[in-house]
Amino acid sequence: MKVVVFISGRGSNLAALLNAQQSGGFEVVHVISNKASAYGLEIAQENGVNNSHIVWTDKQQGEQYAIEVLNQVKPDLIVLAGFMKVLSAQFVAQFENKIINIHPSLLPLYPGLNTHQRAIDDGQTIHGASVHLVDDQLDHGLVLSQCHVEITQQDTADSLAVKLITKEHRLLTETVALIAANKLTWIDSLALNGEPLASALVIE
Ligand code: GAR
Repeated sequence: MKVVVFISGRGSNLAALLNAQQSGGFEVVHVISNKASAYGLEIAQENGVNNSHIVWTDKQQGEQYAIEVLNQVKPDLIVLAGFMKVLSAQFVAQFENKIINIHPSLLPLYPGLNTHQRAIDDGQTIHGASVHLVDDQLDHGLVLSQCHVEITQQDTADSLAVKLITKEHRLLTETVALIAANKLTWIDSLALNGEPLASALVIE
């Protein structure tokens, strides 16, 4: 299964996907970043993966360049891994059912930024991350899979981010591998191995 990964920064989820691709039955064939300085572009370069920096100051223009890349590469799946732009309805419609995103909260809780601090401020004791289908709203769309971390009295936004990121890596790589194997599907409704799932698949 051919995967294109969109990033905006550090790229640790991209690195996890690259490490898992052989055993996971997928291949990252192209990386797109809206930031020239994104460390993830270096990761792509070091791993010999084709990559593009696309200027995204004008959303329509940015999306048009991305569509040109995607029409050439023809991925089976587009993974947003720390890509901090919201895609338009027109863009999403062109790649319907093919775009997933990882977000550091238990969606539908805390779309947007500062998810860890908001969970602490609300007195939550459980936090986590979600992989979801992408629509034209921010961090919104059918949630496919989730992982959880405990919030303790000592936790800060930074400590929670550290605790969660390794679980995010497993969540994303295993979710993409399940999609590649055609085990996790969502065409009529979310299902694992053909059996309907009442809620998001939990991957700890
Ligand atoms: C990850 O924590 C990811 O969940 C989050 O950005 C980080 C990217 O880290 N994504 C979002 O907040 C999307 N709304 P990475 O660049 O090291 O993979």
